Amino acid sequence: MERPAFSLPAFVLEEVKLLQNLKLFKNVSQKAGIEVLLALKAFSVWPVFPQIAEYLHGFTASSFNEARLIFEATGLQSHGYFPALKKDECAELDKYCSTVIFNSLQQFEQLHDQFDTETSFGLRVNPEISLVETDLYNPGRKGSRLGIAPDNLPKKLHEAISGLHMHVLCESSEDDFCALLDTVEKTFKPWLNQIKWINFGGGHLLTKEGYDIERFIDRILQFKERYDLKIIIEPGSAILWETGDLYATIIDIVDNRGTKTIMLDVSFTAHMPDTLEMPYRPEVLLFNEGSKSEKHSYNLGGNSCLSGDYLSDYSFSREVKPGDTLILKDMLHYTTVKTTFFNGIQHPDILYKRLDGRIIALKKYTYQDYKQHLARE
Ligand SMILES: Cc1ncc(COP(=O)(O)O)c(C=O)c1O
Repeated sequence: MERPAFSLPAFVLEEVKLLQNLKLFKNVSQKAGIEVLLALKAFSVWPVFPQIAEYLHGFTASSFNEARLIFEATGLQSHGYFPALKKDECAELDKYCSTVIFNSLQQFEQLHDQFDTETSFGLRVNPEISLVETDLYNPGRKGSRLGIAPDNLPKKLHEAISGLHMHVLCESSEDDFCALLDTVEKTFKPWLNQIKWINFGGGHLLTKEGYDIERFIDRILQFKERYDLKIIIEPGSAILWETGDLYATIIDIVDNRGTKTIMLDVSFTAHMPDTLEMPYRPEVLLFNEGSKSEKHSYNLGGNSCLSGDYLSDYSFSREVKPGDTLILKDMLHYTTVKTTFFNGIQHPDILYKRLDGRIIALKKYTYQDYKQHLARE
């Protein structure tokens, strides 16, 4: 077959792969005795939330709309961490969130009485350990706006605070998790006996091949022996890791002064911004490509007018031609939530490949989606 049996461009989430990841996390949560929540900022394709809820303890939101979406899609209350919470959001959030985490002491002081007495309150703290090289994804640096610096935490926490939350990992290994645990024990020891739960944020890439899951579990079990705390993690990427790809069509090939660029019907800036921002280099395959002898090299160009909307130096086993399909691997986490309608570029559809091979459309984008994104008719 020359082309896939669905219309392109499309993000295709594969149920079989999603279930594999969910089962892995369920198993880890049982063995380590921890709660695992899906962070919506990595993935918000809500029709699959009820399925995800069968395996995880729930979801975590970091905006009003995410909290509302979780509640509407599943009927579940979520954990909510809000970098800058507005007073007029609190009354409705009270319905959507069982746990509310504040980014500063003043936000806690000003707003916690807007929530009912059953809400569990936490503070985001900054362990001030930099485990992520790219600054854009490193909230652990000193002076970061995300999380309270240890020096600013009062010796005695307010009695309404029952947890501490932190997030400093990003696609991280078990070594980095161990380094975080060591830092937490060193930095936050005086507070660990004042709280009931601790949330180690996201960035735990347990689903990546080679992650030493047993070591992760062992370290948690050891930590739990020393501290009587409920432990929560809220991964995003790891849950959607390698669960689906973006399928695109080659529209044209331009050759200017020896630089050959494949012009696609998708855009890196509009549909895969991390490939330019992080930068993150995706694996790209030619649909039904034979051997990977890698002889024919091209740049991959997006179809926007942004000059930097391209990736350099990709190779394929044969010369490509307009009409061929390219598969941009592992494009479900953070891509689907970060896409824009920049330049009016047609948005890829969102498809779900079920276990029985059926492919269902969760969202087919039309011109109206672009138009109404900017104003209502
Ligand atoms: C507070 C918080 N929790 C969880 C996550 C999810 O992280 P990841 O997708 O790397 O697992 C993020 C990502 O930015 C975050 O900011």
